[in-house]
Amino acid sequence: MKGNQLFFLFCSFFIVSFLDETRAAQAGNSNGVYIVYMGAAASTNGLLRDDHVDLMNSVLRRKFLMIYLTPLQGAAWYYDSTKGNALVRTYRHGFSGFAARVSEEEARSIAQKPGVVSVFPDPLLQLHTTRSWDFLKYQTSLEVDSKPNSDSESSSPGSDTIIGILDTGIWPESESFNDEGMGEIPSRWKGLCMKADDFSSSNCNRKLIGARFYNNTDSSTPEWYTPRDMVGHGTHVASTAAGSTVATASFYGLATGTAKGGFPGSRIAIYKVCSTNGCRGSAILAAFEDAITDGVDVLSLSLGSPSILRPNLMSDPIAIGAFHAVESGITVVCSAGNDGPSSTTVVNTAPWILTVAASTIDRDFQSNLVLGGNKVIKGEGINFSPLQKSPVYPLINAEAAKKSGANEVGVRNCDPGSMDKDLIKGKIVICNHDDGADDYSLNRKIDGVKGLGGTGIAFIDDQSRAVAYTYGAFPATVITTKDAEEILSYINSTRGPTYDTRNILKARILDLRSPMLVFYCRAHACLANMVVLQPDISAPGVDILAAWIGNDTSAAPQGKEPPLFNVISGTSMACPHVSGIAATVKSRNFAWSPSAIRSAIMTTATQTNNLKAPITTDSGSIATPYDYGAGEVTTSGPLQPGLVYETSTLDYLNYLCYSGHDISAIEAIAKTIPSDFACPNDSNADYISNINYPSIAISKFNGKPSKNVSRTVTNVAGDGETVYSVSVDAPSGVNVEVVPDELRFTKNNEKLSYQVTFSSLSVSPMKEDAFGSITWTNGKYRVRSPFVLSVR
Ligand SMILES: *[C@@H]1O[C@H](CO)[C@@H](O)[C@H](O)[C@H]1NC(C)=O
Ligand SMILES: *[C@@H]1O[C@H](CO)[C@@H](O)[C@H](O)[C@H]1NC(C)=O
Ligand SMILES: *[C@@H]1O[C@H](CO)[C@@H](O)[C@H](O)[C@H]1NC(C)=O
Ligand SMILES: *[C@@H]1O[C@H](CO)[C@@H](O)[C@H](O)[C@H]1NC(C)=O
Ligand SMILES: *[C@@H]1O[C@H](CO)[C@@H](O)[C@H](O)[C@H]1NC(C)=O
Repeated sequence: MKGNQLFFLFCSFFIVSFLDETRAAQAGNSNGVYIVYMGAAASTNGLLRDDHVDLMNSVLRRKFLMIYLTPLQGAAWYYDSTKGNALVRTYRHGFSGFAARVSEEEARSIAQKPGVVSVFPDPLLQLHTTRSWDFLKYQTSLEVDSKPNSDSESSSPGSDTIIGILDTGIWPESESFNDEGMGEIPSRWKGLCMKADDFSSSNCNRKLIGARFYNNTDSSTPEWYTPRDMVGHGTHVASTAAGSTVATASFYGLATGTAKGGFPGSRIAIYKVCSTNGCRGSAILAAFEDAITDGVDVLSLSLGSPSILRPNLMSDPIAIGAFHAVESGITVVCSAGNDGPSSTTVVNTAPWILTVAASTIDRDFQSNLVLGGNKVIKGEGINFSPLQKSPVYPLINAEAAKKSGANEVGVRNCDPGSMDKDLIKGKIVICNHDDGADDYSLNRKIDGVKGLGGTGIAFIDDQSRAVAYTYGAFPATVITTKDAEEILSYINSTRGPTYDTRNILKARILDLRSPMLVFYCRAHACLANMVVLQPDISAPGVDILAAWIGNDTSAAPQGKEPPLFNVISGTSMACPHVSGIAATVKSRNFAWSPSAIRSAIMTTATQTNNLKAPITTDSGSIATPYDYGAGEVTTSGPLQPGLVYETSTLDYLNYLCYSGHDISAIEAIAKTIPSDFACPNDSNADYISNINYPSIAISKFNGKPSKNVSRTVTNVAGDGETVYSVSVDAPSGVNVEVVPDELRFTKNNEKLSYQVTFSSLSVSPMKEDAFGSITWTNGKYRVRSPFVLSVR
């Protein structure tokens, strides 16, 4: 074979496998399984619908070989081992459908069958923590203050609530799940504590009342065959939502503090749908179904589709499962995803989901750089450097260590291959992080500098500066661009610049800026659609200390036992704070609908930080509803909201009409649907702006003509007769008129409506999106709705 032929073969081989991989990635790491979603369950007795049975039979018939045995034994269906077990799961309680191993062609043909709403490849979803597990793990000794921007937290227990958590499982031995002082498990609980080799029924108690795992789609690893957490994420999230109070969360003798979850009075049920590799859609749907029949009150999901995939609603297992859960009265709280300013969308945006963004808490981990002359540059990061003894090291800008022939961008970003060993050796190296490489590459850069004999590393990265990461035993810190300029000019002006490492080991914890938003979207870039504002709310998600798996030796300093608590960051950590609060609201107001609970949480949010200044983003600009929805969640406000905005199933169905679903699909999805329901002929964005949501979003607004929306509030204060008056915070140049401007309630649970008209005061069309709010007050309660007027 000639060389060029070989080359050609090699190339085409490469292209083919690349295409396959791309396709697999698009399908969300295909496992060959398709989910067939058939809408609401026909009945609650668990029997399959006829169309469901027929369809499943037709799938099975094609997949099984029928072999006749002796006449006495009759016919038997035999498993076709070449195709694998075709039927993976059936869904029949919470909703209807199944998951099966079928070909793409078969999937397409199933999608045409009557009764089928959608057919889509079983996706692999991701957990919403930032960076790699190893990168995030470090130990500390803080007081665990997982309370969001709190007012007074009331601790009296209400009725029993159960928080279901879809995640990586749980480490039941953690002190956070002790059940001391908890009463009998509520009799309505129908869930299970599934057994496994490393998990017995005695691992469940009055705190951890349920534990299920879902193992039959990616069943190759033992990790799927137990409710036990082998990652840490699920344990962390569960203890944040509802962990019991742990009085001495001491770490390696450094300090002691008290750890407790958002609502320590709540029970926990864990649904293990994720492993180290991600979370299977078919398992997520099965968990939703189980949670609905088990009797949970709140579901907490710190996971979602990668934002690049952006599945449509009926191919998104979370949107589907959540719809049915909400219809059954369960509040579903999800993380908004971690994709920062460079990405395009919030995930988990369906209007029946309570979507949570992440903010910082009043905690800052500083690893400062001290320049000669004792000039201190604030850096962020935690490390366990052994360098204490020698106080002074030379400082070098990586750019100055360029190896001949190396690439400029590479060297300024501390690409290991681009730097000259002799120049790096023994020095603290200043590196950029603007080469578009992902965050994981920080580890590689650290290893590179270390490999060349460098002493330490300071990354210039404004985005990472907001979040403390661990850098293991190597001295590393993250500084801002502004501070970097100062250092670089210092290097320029100083001979033999030095770096005092004495501070680098001490992650000092400062009470500073709280809250500040991170993992957010810039302006409208993140809005999946302009008609319902997302995210709904923000909550602490940065540097959150909570329970950890008990055998994570990789997280322990040399010679120490594994940590019992760990600090990690992400919208994953923000979500369970809100789940805990939703459970508290539910416990005090057991009859409230999920939308009433969401409204209570949103309309009582705060927009100011602990210094009484407006909440900012990590770049210092004042946050907008695009960043934090209604604002930062408060703990006591949602217990007494005064008025709530109740969003009906009908509103959600109208949203589905707007999203392009036809009436037959919508009829199949909804358990109860008014017989005269029809998608409105003019199901446009303005129509959806009118669904009774606690926030208002208007698209294509340029001021002329004016746009109107109406809203309806329910008086839930229990005070009977009361009068609310409106106040409007209008953006400049926009006239906001509310009619009527007074709402006179005569009794509890009364509903009253109002209309808002937005118009421009200026002749020229609006060029930029504008924000404001509408607040109803009766002297006792403040009920605030943010609004967004988008020019797009
Ligand atoms: C999961 O795997 C275990 C062990 O193989 C098996 O006993 C169990 O039936 C499986 N469960 C499901 C739901 O498939
Ligand atoms: C440092 O000096 C070099 C060469 O004189 C100059 O190009 C560079 O802009 C200076 N950098 C700073 C940050 O002052
Ligand atoms: C932790 O314990 C689990 C369950 O006993 C085990 O399967 C896992 O391999 C252990 N992990 C480590 C890192 O030792
Ligand atoms: C929608 O349009 C159809 C035909 O144009 C009409 O018969 C029907 O009444 C309209 N429905 C509504 C809700 O406006
Ligand atoms: C908006 O509402 C006001 C007050 O009810 C009404 O007068 C006006 O006609 C409405 N405008 C539009 C565009 O619907």
